[in-house]
Amino acid sequence: MDNSDLNFASLAVFYEPEEYSLSINYPLYMSANFEYGGDTYDRITQGARKDVNIYSRCGNPTEYQFEEHVARLAGGTACLATASGMAAISHALFGVMKAGDHVIADLTTYSSTHEFFDHRACDFGLDVTLVDCTDVARVRAAIRPETKVLYFEAIANPTMKVAPMAELVALAHAHGIVVICDNTFASPAICRPHDFGVDVVVESATKFIGGHNDAVGGVITQKSDILPADWLEDVRWNTLNKLGAPISPFNAWLLLRGAQTLALRAERQCQSAAKIAAWLRDHPQVERVFYPGLETHPNHAAAKIQLRDFGCMMSFKVATEEMGVQILKNLKLCAFAASLGGVRTTTQMPGTMAFLDIPLQERIAMGIEPGLVRISVGIEHVDDIIADLDQAIKAVLA
Ligand SMILES: Cc1ncc(COP(=O)(O)O)c(C=O)c1O
Repeated sequence: MDNSDLNFASLAVFYEPEEYSLSINYPLYMSANFEYGGDTYDRITQGARKDVNIYSRCGNPTEYQFEEHVARLAGGTACLATASGMAAISHALFGVMKAGDHVIADLTTYSSTHEFFDHRACDFGLDVTLVDCTDVARVRAAIRPETKVLYFEAIANPTMKVAPMAELVALAHAHGIVVICDNTFASPAICRPHDFGVDVVVESATKFIGGHNDAVGGVITQKSDILPADWLEDVRWNTLNKLGAPISPFNAWLLLRGAQTLALRAERQCQSAAKIAAWLRDHPQVERVFYPGLETHPNHAAAKIQLRDFGCMMSFKVATEEMGVQILKNLKLCAFAASLGGVRTTTQMPGTMAFLDIPLQERIAMGIEPGLVRISVGIEHVDDIIADLDQAIKAVLA
């Protein structure tokens, strides 16, 4: 079926049945090893790769089905699944960059990404400049002849900054720079960076794509005029296969199943998030709310252009770190937890959880102030989420 005309919700649900069994759900090929039967041996020795099954570090049919599905959702020409979101990020970077290359990365990215740029990339001979990518002039000023990659997040973790994608892409491409965007906080239901010219999109599928907090995985998608058409297959064979971080077939199967409800989940989560953000904005104990859907958000204009809805990630600032922690400990329905993007509402203190290893002054420069609370809105009834937050805040004041 040509599904190019399908709406996103239908695209999320539909894929062709598996050809041997006509199973409406794709089978789980829980196998590490495959026989070199029939003409497989001859085909492999003559160069066949993805169209034969060899060994699951090189690829697995369940993984391929998940990849095809995500490529369609992301509007990419190809997809490669990895063991985690961090594996997607590192493999995308290592797939483009070589020792001596320079990368411009946003100052505010997920903690492990930031730490990689800040003090691990140099171990591999990569030079990094961290700048606020919402400021195009600063990005322009950071460009050098050896700049190979521009890297930022569609909605930044945890400040919810939204950088102007089309402008950044135009600037980068004028200098032959590859643009890589982490779309984890948005998911393809909210944002498709390829539609704005981004060359490579990385995403922690652990979060919204899977949606159930039950499997870790990552995806890289490609749609690029400046990378070779087979770049991602080259990353599969020459980067992932050598560094060794393939997704497990079971996780690919779980994430594929989760992706089928992505549109439905996102619709409910965004509706609830808008209400929760407005409620928090008017709350006397809340100093500030960071949500791209609020008109007061500094990047609201870019968000209106780039996001189909405003997402279901937000953060808010209370007076102190201790007060924030106590609020989260008081929650009964919402979980106090590290991760995000699932059907359950989850909350965390970014400064003393994900970003704990980053020195305080550096964190503050990134916009992660003490007392910043992050919420990933789930699919519970919005009134129950607000009631839970309300009782948790009141209990701190009692
Ligand atoms: C924005 C962002 N990118 C990447 C990752 C890493 O994903 P994973 O935990 O699947 O490696 C995370 C994890 O929280 C994240 O928030």
